Amino acid sequence: MVLIAPHGADELRPLIVDDARRGELEAEALTLPSLMMSSAAAANAVMMGAGYFTPLMGYMNRADALSVAENMRTTDGLFWPVPVVNLAESCPVEPGQRLALTDPNREGQPLMAVMTVEAIETLSDEDVATILDKVFRTDDPEHPGVAAFTAQGRTVISGPIEVLNYSYFEEDFPDTFRTAMAIRSEIVKRGWERVVAFQTRNPMHRAHEELCRMAMEDLSADGVLIHMLLGKLKSGDIPADVRDASIRKMVDLYFPPNSVMVTGYGFDMLYAGPREAVLHAVFRQNAGCTHLIVGRDHAGVGSYYGGFDAQTIFDEEVPEGALALEIYRADHTAFSKKLGRVVMMRDAPDHNSEDFVLLSGTKVREMLGQGVAPPPEFSRPEVAEILMAYYQEIDGTEAG
Ligand code: ADX
Repeated sequence: MVLIAPHGADELRPLIVDDARRGELEAEALTLPSLMMSSAAAANAVMMGAGYFTPLMGYMNRADALSVAENMRTTDGLFWPVPVVNLAESCPVEPGQRLALTDPNREGQPLMAVMTVEAIETLSDEDVATILDKVFRTDDPEHPGVAAFTAQGRTVISGPIEVLNYSYFEEDFPDTFRTAMAIRSEIVKRGWERVVAFQTRNPMHRAHEELCRMAMEDLSADGVLIHMLLGKLKSGDIPADVRDASIRKMVDLYFPPNSVMVTGYGFDMLYAGPREAVLHAVFRQNAGCTHLIVGRDHAGVGSYYGGFDAQTIFDEEVPEGALALEIYRADHTAFSKKLGRVVMMRDAPDHNSEDFVLLSGTKVREMLGQGVAPPPEFSRPEVAEILMAYYQEIDGTEAG
């Protein structure tokens, strides 16, 4: 069985080192100047370590970051949708020297990667404006991705890296965090060929569950990879452990055995909508998936993106042949009172909005916080129970 090829390479290029090399790097790092990375740079290191960002070998320089922002290509022509950079206030070494990179997200800021610094450059105001405009389509400081990007320094430290560990992800999510290598092996072990990935940063309600089922059926897929983001989110989003528990419950109860893999990846949410959808496609291809579900407001936030911009970018800006993975386009999906099941709105042209069970995120959160389960047409009761317990706990804490 031959799996889908990784992006831009014949084989995955994980930058994680083996135990022997880790020992050498730890010893070397004691002699090196060190820099504590931004969380975004650390997340990039996790993704490069875990093979997801194949074929990148390290952090991009200014020219590549701008070229990727503007044209979705590095200066060498590699298709890539989002700059993968190590931004800092300043750099403690000179080009050509080695630098120890430490982890901002773990106690004691342990060593996470070692890099050979090739260039140290500065992003100008104009560079930042270009990156924000192209990647996020906004420079609004209220946009959580824009805020995280601009909170980093302007010094672009580029060059190849070796990664020693996957930060807090392995320890905090031992059953869920998986590398691209591990997912590929599991796909082979299960004998799957057509694999559809479902990206998520939220718990899964009925609409999401049915989206997976519809995609699986329409594509005659062998299985679904539920692949949840485990990194940082904006405040108000549901933490990964709660999401994980609710998703596992849904899969256990409502999917046939061996049809779904529940996994996660260590990356901070960018909320970059269309551009992030393309990045999602790249790294699901690296994880061995043949398809990715892209639905309504994929990776979006607020009203920065049109409901289906994350689909049209694949038609308008992703060149033919740039990706081997294909996207599965989902229309707005909801429970139809007329038909008594979850449908995509495009398949129910005679319906109007009253014919669907539609609840806003704010309304659902309010209900869950008050210990009121949303209707079973919206949420599985077992899923609602886990979410209610979470909200009641935090609301209790906030009130106290
Ligand atoms: S995301 O930021 O990770 O994309 P979320 O977990 O809410 O957010 O969505 C996961 C996937 O489900 C995305 O592809 C999104 O477009 C899709 N999706 C979520 N809700 C709906 C819906 N009601 N109808 C269609 N697609 C949806």
